[in-house]
Amino acid sequence: MQENLERVLFDEQTILRRLDQIAAQIVTDYRERDLTVIAVLNGSLIFMADLLRRIPLPLKLDCLRVASYHGGTRTTGGVVFNQVALPDVTGRHILILDDILDSGVTLAAIGEKLRAARPLSVKLCVLLRKQKIRLRPLEADYVGFDIRDEFVVGYGLDYQERYRNLPCIGVLRTELIGAA
Ligand code: IMP
Ligand code: MG
Repeated sequence: MQENLERVLFDEQTILRRLDQIAAQIVTDYRERDLTVIAVLNGSLIFMADLLRRIPLPLKLDCLRVASYHGGTRTTGGVVFNQVALPDVTGRHILILDDILDSGVTLAAIGEKLRAARPLSVKLCVLLRKQKIRLRPLEADYVGFDIRDEFVVGYGLDYQERYRNLPCIGVLRTELIGAA
């Protein structure tokens, strides 16, 4: 499957080493606080599994499913919450986990929705952050890696639901984008 990549940006060992560092930081920051992690599906699945097992705190975990991409490589603008009941965040310290901060549209919408339920605090943790001007300016509190503004797959990130199971993160070959 790796032959579908133009180049590898981060191999598995590099990702896991970085997760050790982020996890240590989160443990320090939330040691005395009641932490609820809210993972944004599906992109954060693999990241979430590897990161949370490095955090020895009695945290709670819940997931949110949203749709914002509609299969292309560009954000279309609208965010749909594919869920009736939202996680119970009132009075809790919330850490949102997502795969990538791109246009900021998805995470801004999620942040607004969760803040309306009056949590004690909301922080954001993303594995990747694209360096670009965002439609919704948004600060992440924990960032795995900064990357250029190019389309990447692997380690949870997909192109039309494929490549999530690649153990590394890389740039998809351009001739595969737009092909069926
Ligand atoms: P947003 O543009 O910040 O709203 O990003 C929305 C979602 O688009 C992310 O959570 C990812 O699932 C997806 N996305 C953005 N950039 C990429 C990419 O380079 N590869 C794969 N998915 C991406
Ligand atoms: Mg996606």
